[in-house]
Amino acid sequence: MIFQRKNWVVPKGQEPTEMDKKVLYWQNKGKLVPRRGLILTPGQIDGIRQAGVINTAILDLVGEKIHAGMSTAEIDKLVYDYTISHNATPACLGYEGFPKSCCTSINEEVCHGIPSDDIILEEGDIINVDCTTILNGYFADASRMFIIGKTTPEKENLVRVAKECLEVGMKAAKPYSFVGDIGNAIQTHAHKNGCTVVRDLCGHGVGLKFHDEPEVLHYGRKGTGMLLVPGMVFTIEPMVNLGDWHVFIDADNNWTVITEDELPSAQWEHTFVMTENGVEILTH
Ligand code: MF3
Ligand code: CO
Ligand code: CO
Repeated sequence: MIFQRKNWVVPKGQEPTEMDKKVLYWQNKGKLVPRRGLILTPGQIDGIRQAGVINTAILDLVGEKIHAGMSTAEIDKLVYDYTISHNATPACLGYEGFPKSCCTSINEEVCHGIPSDDIILEEGDIINVDCTTILNGYFADASRMFIIGKTTPEKENLVRVAKECLEVGMKAAKPYSFVGDIGNAIQTHAHKNGCTVVRDLCGHGVGLKFHDEPEVLHYGRKGTGMLLVPGMVFTIEPMVNLGDWHVFIDADNNWTVITEDELPSAQWEHTFVMTENGVEILTH
């Protein structure tokens, strides 16, 4: 038995609420529960929702403009210009030294691809554009896949399965369920479709900062990981591979994550808030 830190504390002199009782029940059973600070207020959630509106408009704009022959630096410029002109900030720019305003990851690149003048989109490429927007101090994080022209049936299928993985993960995320329920649903769906799930990177709490608790693994067992409580805001962002799940980091830039077997990878991401009835998407 692993003894978890007792994150949930009822303030002194206060009667436990219904939420307190539910969380304490699981905490007393030794489960990992959030600290109270991860339960955001309606005002904070609204701030994240507003950041999400800008974030969605950016990805919509990328979807309109993306085409074969375009460089990934041009995508980055679209993201930067739109963000700045809407009084927002691109969270990626300067984050732990990341040099650009979004991540652009093509084919066998899993995530954290760096936009460049030298990377030109070609017919048949599949690309993930991942963008995080800060508005009034609130963070919204989402990514989508774009198919450049016509691609192979395998890549098209992979993009679809990855999207479905996000959807099944979202449906598995119920109030007072566990993060592991999300990962288990995603893994099951990926495997059923002959795909694998990257293990080295995960979804995350988001909203007041870029990366917070909980860690949202996209694989694993039901009932493991942190308890999901209404008011928590987090991403689900499965990275799904056509081949093996193993990845490495490009030694040339120390950022880009690439599949070991160099087979393609696809990812979709949304920011969600947990409610009493399931998750609500804050980035669409
Ligand atoms: N947006 C990514 C995520 O989904 C993180 C990118 S960090 C960066 O968590 F530095 F590479 F931009
Ligand atoms: Co994210
Ligand atoms: Co992201």
